[in-house]
Order: sequence, then C-alpha cells, then structure tokens
Amino acid sequence: LNLRLTTNLTHEISPTIYGYMWEDINHSGDGGLYGELLQNRAFQAVLPGTQNALNSWQPFNGARLSVTSKTSGVSSSLPNSLEVTIPKVVAGPIGFDNTGFWGIKIQEGWTYKGSLYAKSDTFSGAITVSLKSVRGTTFASKSLTGVSKNWKKFTFELEPTASANDDNNIFNVVVDGKAAAGKVIHFGMFSLFPPTFRGRENGMRIDLAEALAATQPSIWRFPGGNNLEGMSFDTRWKWNETIGRLEDRPGRTADWGYSNTDGLGLLEYLNWAEDLGAEPILGVWDGISIANYSDLSTWPVVPEAELQPYIDDVLNEIEFIIGDAKTTKWGKVRASLGREEPYALKFIEIGNEDQFQPASYAAYRWKAFVTAIGAKYPQMEFIATSLPSTALDPAYKKIDFHMYNSPSWFTTNAFMFDDYPRNGTQFFVGEYAVTSTNDANALGDIPSGRLAYPTLQGAAAEAAFMTGMERNSDVVFASAYAPSLQHIRSYQWTPDILTYDASRLVKSTSYYVQQMFSVNRGTHVLATSPSSTPDTAPLFWVASFNNETDIIFLKVSNTGTSDLVANIFLDFPITGFGTATSISSPALSPISGLFNVSNTLEEPELIIPVANSFAIPQPDRFNYTFPATSVTVITLQSP
Ligand code: AHR
Repeated sequence: LNLRLTTNLTHEISPTIYGYMWEDINHSGDGGLYGELLQNRAFQAVLPGTQNALNSWQPFNGARLSVTSKTSGVSSSLPNSLEVTIPKVVAGPIGFDNTGFWGIKIQEGWTYKGSLYAKSDTFSGAITVSLKSVRGTTFASKSLTGVSKNWKKFTFELEPTASANDDNNIFNVVVDGKAAAGKVIHFGMFSLFPPTFRGRENGMRIDLAEALAATQPSIWRFPGGNNLEGMSFDTRWKWNETIGRLEDRPGRTADWGYSNTDGLGLLEYLNWAEDLGAEPILGVWDGISIANYSDLSTWPVVPEAELQPYIDDVLNEIEFIIGDAKTTKWGKVRASLGREEPYALKFIEIGNEDQFQPASYAAYRWKAFVTAIGAKYPQMEFIATSLPSTALDPAYKKIDFHMYNSPSWFTTNAFMFDDYPRNGTQFFVGEYAVTSTNDANALGDIPSGRLAYPTLQGAAAEAAFMTGMERNSDVVFASAYAPSLQHIRSYQWTPDILTYDASRLVKSTSYYVQQMFSVNRGTHVLATSPSSTPDTAPLFWVASFNNETDIIFLKVSNTGTSDLVANIFLDFPITGFGTATSISSPALSPISGLFNVSNTLEEPELIIPVANSFAIPQPDRFNYTFPATSVTVITLQSP
C-alpha cells in the first residue's frame, strides 16, 4: 500500500468521540467500581425470612440468623435488619460473617473504614468486628461497646497487620457466647470500605477506577441500559432514591438479577464523570419497563394520559443536576448534599433502545419528554433511541443505536458512516462491542461463538470500525464501548472491557484499543490518499492532526492474518523520528490460531501495547509493517 498523508484537514473531530456506557450489570457497580466490600450490606430489596435475604451472610459458631422487618429498621428506607439469635448454651465467640463479593481483599497498610448499626433489648456487651481468612487467621480486629435498646451506629477502622495470600476472607462479627446466651441482637446497614479512588468517601475501587480513568473517556452514558428501565414501572431506576445518606437509599430490585444498593447514586456518577473529565450523557426513564427480556409484548408502556408524573420526575432530576442552589427547589437539595455548583449537563438521552417499543415512542413518548424538557431547558440536546429510520416529531438531531456483533460485521460496516447523510443529524454509537465470532447469532452463548473475554481479533475489528467513526466524526459525535465491567464470579453479559475478582483485574485487548484511540486524539481529521475503503481492507485507517500540539496521528488496524507493509508519504515536514504503539498477537503465525487470543485473569498481560520509536531518515516518507491482526497508532511530530 502507498499511503499519502496530506495537509488537508477535512473536519473537526468531535471532542466527545470516545467513552463508555455504564449500568450496574455483571456486578460492575455493587461488587465492582463501587468500593463497598460487604455484599447485601443492608438487606435491600430482599424478602425477609427467606434464605435469599441472607445472601452473603453466614452464621459463625451456631448463631441463628434471619432477615426481619418485624422490628423497626435503621431508617424508613431500610426496614430490614439481621436478627441474630444466640443459643442458650454456647461456648466462645458467636456471631456471623459476610463473605464479601466472593471474597475480600485484605491488604497490609490499608485502612478499612467500617460501620454497622446494632440494637438489643437484652444484650449490652461488646461486639468484636474482624477481617479474617476463612481458615481463621485474624488480620485486624476492633471491639465495639454501647449496644442498647435503640439503634446505634458504630464506626470503626480496621488496619490489617499483614496481607492475605488470597481473597478467601470474611468480615466477622461476634459477641461473647456466655454473655449473650439466649439473647437476640439486631444488626443493620453494614459498610466496609478500603481506600478509594482519590480518597472519596463512599468512593470507587482504586484499580478499576484508575483503569477506566487511564483511557481518558470523554463521555459517560449512565445509568443504563436495561438497568434504567426496571422490570416494572415501580422498580425503574429512581434518581431521587439514589441520593442523600446511604441510610435513606432503599436500593432496588434491578434488571440484571441482583439487588442494587444505589450506593453508587446520581451524585456519585456525576462526580465520577467530573473526575474523568467526561461529558455526562444522562439517560432518562421514558415510560417503558422490561417485564420479560425475550418477549417484547410483555413490556409495560405508560399510556399517554398517565405520563405527566414521570415527565415531572425527569424535570426534577434535571433541576437537581443543574438548578440554581439558591432559587430552585431541587438545586437547594443538591446544595444541602454538599454540591453548591450546578453540574455541566447538555446531553439527555430519552430512554434506552426504544426501537423495541417504537409505536408509543413515535406516537407520544419522545415528543412528550423532549417538548417538556426543551421548554424548561432549551440548552439541552436530545438523543433518540428508536431505529434511525423511525420518523419522530420533533425530528431527532441525535440518535443512539447499538451495535453488538461479530468481527466480520464490524469490518464490513467500518465504512457505514462514510455515506451517512450530512443533514444536520448526528449518530451516537451508544453501545458497541464485538460479542461473538458467530455471524448469524452475535448474542448467543459461548459454545456457539460468544466471546468470554474480548479477543485480539475482536479488538482489531472494533478498531477498524473506530477508524470509520473517527474519520466521520462530523456525524458520529460520540461512542461508548459496552458493557464496561465484569465480576468473574457473577455476571450476565460477556465480553466486557475489564474483568476482575475481589483483588485481581485484567485489561482486555478491547480496553487497550479504547485507550490507544482515546488518548491519541487529533482535533481534525487529516485526509489521506487513498482514503480507507473496503478495497484497502484488511488495512483500515484514519489520520488526524492536533492543532494544539502539532502532532499527527495515524491509527491503523490490520484485521488480516498476514503482516502488511505500507509505504507512507508525507505532504508536510516532520521531525526525524516517529513513535508507534501497537497491540498484536504474541504468536505471529496464522497456523497457531492465536489471533483469537485474549487476556484473562490467569494471563492478564498476554497481549499488551508495545511502544517504539523509529527513525525517519527521509524527510517525506517511511515504511511501516503492520503485523497480522494488530492495531497501531503512529505518532509524528510537526517541527
Ligand atoms: O449492554 C448490555 C445491554 O445491551 C444493555 O443493558 C442494553 O441497552 C443492551 O441491550
């Protein structure tokens, strides 16, 4: 291939081009990004008296445990508590454990900040809280005194004297068996946090937060996804139940098979987006729920005549986010929660995947929300979620459509935006990922081709597609890889960009591609000759120029199984060297079949980007070999 980089800047690159879609799926929030270590910490959204309500809790030395709502809870939002009955005859410490999110990481040098509520009509002795291994080694311990008839909040810090060898650790709570024999003690609203990202209270798990932040995403679409919608109207994601004291957040029966604590709530998301330097894209609930995922006819839709309260709710939510702290009702509430200054918000996404309920969306739901929000907040830009071909009134200017598919679909469709009509509308690829090698069923199961982890082949195909998005970023204003996170011990969707357990984390090939594309951003697309087209596949590329740094980027995906050489010609002067960051297979032979290889928790660094500098002795040209199944970003500096 002879490839010429010209001096022709075709258009600006949208500053929001790369980012993430977020929802609590795969324990991405509770048990993932949210730093809380105790699972089912406040018995939210469970049925008292059931075994399920005791999820992650287990008796220690014969105590009898049950979750009850028969005694008052620690708050009206948290009516359930743990009833601990101590047998009449017992020796030694007795109580219960929380097993965490499939284990607890115990690290020497960390301070774990904990709290719990307790009350008892009959017991007033000491409670001992500890971090222990399942084999009985105690790493840290504290004694709490002052239990009485009324709920009392106890706070404590645990400082392990050593690190545990593995995650098989528990949070243990005991009383002295002799002192407590025959007595009943109630416990509620536990919490245990390790150090968090940027030291934020109620904050994020450091390794996951740092990994996401290191890709410098510029949009953060939240809170879903299906998890916005609820399985019924009442179990939808309710913004006002995710704010304030943790004791005032009831949690919810969420969409992905486990309860959400909502500890990661609206303010936490907005602060996190600010920490990332990302533009929030707020998904608002627009009148549908998902009763049964596989049967669209069962999805409840709010009739037009009953929509107004939900529209008002969204108006309140937006006022909470951007309203004046002194003069608006919800702005005042935000200020009372510690945030005086309004947040920056300009993108509102109306619903999620409303192509599945297009009739009511086109007939009244889109119009009702857009008209009401637009009247109060004319600065807002709305994103529709119907099929791009669905006519809406008012006509949409931005549309989100999701793409989960096979490598060949992504490479074939890498040019779809070249022909996108330049008619003032813009596209948001609000969820995308290579999910399967099965062209006929990209959302099937693993035996039929679904990926367990992102693969190098998939990442190269995503990169090919991303060159098309970036080259057309006058019409593709944003994109969001999805889903983001996966707890390997409990998940609903593969593949995901980051996979982890209680202590380990693996960055996938797709992660590295997102990072390589996102941190190496031009301000303008630079025309090349030829342009990347289906005829030049399996090489796909986009060139860009950053007019603030005078850096030229050439992003190239080679989705083929052979190395390919390009003779690159330059219409402009550069310094005498370039740098290339490349991700490719450790085994270059197509025979090895390793193009489908993945980073896994067991082999987390099998495929990582490698950066090299190379000399460019001639002022206007150089050759570069793009390895088989690879993604490369070449950086050139204008003198
Ligand atoms: O990303 C997983 C799911 O895929 C999202 O919740 C939904 O929007 C899409 O169908």
